[in-house]
Amino acid sequence: MKLNVEIGDITKQDADAIVVNLFEGISKPDGVVGLVNEYLNDTISNLIEVGEIRGKAGELTLIHTQGSIKPKRVLVVGLGRKEKFDQDVIRSTSGLIVRFLNSKQIKTYATVLHGDEIGVIEPAIAARSIAEGTILGSYKFGEHKSKKQKQNIKQVTIIESDNSKIDAIQHGLSQGIPIASSVALARDLVNQPANYMTPSDLVDIATDICDGTDLELEVFDENRMRQLKMGALLGVAKGSIVPPKMIIIKYSGDPENPNNNLGLIGKGITFDSGGISIKPSGGMAAMKGDMAGAASVISTMKAIAELKPKINVTVIAAATENMPGGNAQKPGDVVVAMNGTTIEVDNTDAEGRLVLSDAVSYGVQLGLKRIVDVATLTGAIEIALGKVTTGAFSNDPKLVNQVIEAGNEAGEKIWELPTFEEYRELYKSEIADLKNVGGRQAGSITGAMFIGEFAKDVAWVHLDIAATSTSSKTTGMLTKGATGIPVRTLIYLVLALSKG
Ligand code: BES
Ligand code: ZN
Ligand code: ZN
Repeated sequence: MKLNVEIGDITKQDADAIVVNLFEGISKPDGVVGLVNEYLNDTISNLIEVGEIRGKAGELTLIHTQGSIKPKRVLVVGLGRKEKFDQDVIRSTSGLIVRFLNSKQIKTYATVLHGDEIGVIEPAIAARSIAEGTILGSYKFGEHKSKKQKQNIKQVTIIESDNSKIDAIQHGLSQGIPIASSVALARDLVNQPANYMTPSDLVDIATDICDGTDLELEVFDENRMRQLKMGALLGVAKGSIVPPKMIIIKYSGDPENPNNNLGLIGKGITFDSGGISIKPSGGMAAMKGDMAGAASVISTMKAIAELKPKINVTVIAAATENMPGGNAQKPGDVVVAMNGTTIEVDNTDAEGRLVLSDAVSYGVQLGLKRIVDVATLTGAIEIALGKVTTGAFSNDPKLVNQVIEAGNEAGEKIWELPTFEEYRELYKSEIADLKNVGGRQAGSITGAMFIGEFAKDVAWVHLDIAATSTSSKTTGMLTKGATGIPVRTLIYLVLALSKG
């Protein structure tokens, strides 16, 4: 699918359909939709009068133009109430539009910038939102279908009549397109079955991303991990016959200021069976997605390489399976993490915090000044926040607010939960420094704080995406299955931090 902007008159387009918008509660359409209404002999205002068109958010009305204008169809799209209009409405509406028109066998359509006439959203941001919503709303994971489902839509054109807005719209598209394709990549990696997405497969993906760019890739194998004494990560990997990998990707956008850096660390459990503390079989297949943290930090780098922000970014993805093999670690085992901390493995299914403890220690050793780790860490986060909101945990109010703000900009909801000292009691071990589970209470908090122990004095935020990395239904710009959350938050965060 191609997406571009052209100057012109939307009623004169050589496209299978044109898209115009209407806010809720407007009885006399004006602007572009008013003009189209005139050409169509008041069809739109008549439909408003009889109550068929109300402008409600997500309302779609397809009108056949029967030769009255060049485009064969007009899609009138409801934008909802004016006061509630924002870039997220544009994203979700764009997703609805592309899926609807695709289902009508349409190949090309032209659209105006949604809500352009009220001017509350800058043209660049509106265009970026159209790109994100359109590309991600039409996302499908069809790789394993022997009969290929084809994407009908080949071309989407934004038509703008005001010449002075074209550059801004072009700029918005030049951001939105690489951002959306990074999210689509993350979705692909998460949707991919575990037999196609082993740690080595993740390495291949990272290699592809870095090829021909300024990104620098380094991969640690088991031997290197042993040299670095990454005992917590190696303990998890022991149960599987596929070798673990640590994937390190470096982007140097501000080489003169090495301290202007950000670390993005991802949990990359390519399949989480639970290990010896094995999970129940119902729903276990979903654990192919337990590498969503790694997928999102790796995919983020694809957009960073294109957008070239002035900041240094290091990705660390800790990839391994968690399996119950003959050599698997056992409940009660003690492992020694890279930084010397001893950990009693009370439950082998709490493996995410184990692999992340070594990944975070390595990040601290590299001299990272800010760390954001992303992990499908706990089932408990879905109990706390549902599938709507990602949980954030932090030792640094400034950084966590920057992450939440980037999430607001991305339309990816994030809410901070506490990391009070009192919770530390819950994961102290009788025989080692820490144990990897904290019991029934505050499961997401103790999991997060366990990871935070290894960040030491470095500003750190943990995002628990166990519930938000997948969606149970297709709505707006989300499609059923992997969501690609929080890739857009991470990209917006990097862009915001790069501006100082
Ligand atoms: N990968 C799971 C968390 C998870 C649950 C992700 C549901 C996605 C959907 C994690 O490794 C895990 O098993 N956590 C345990 C921790 C417990 C043993 C302390 C959990 O949440 O039950
Ligand atoms: Zn687990
Ligand atoms: Zn897990």
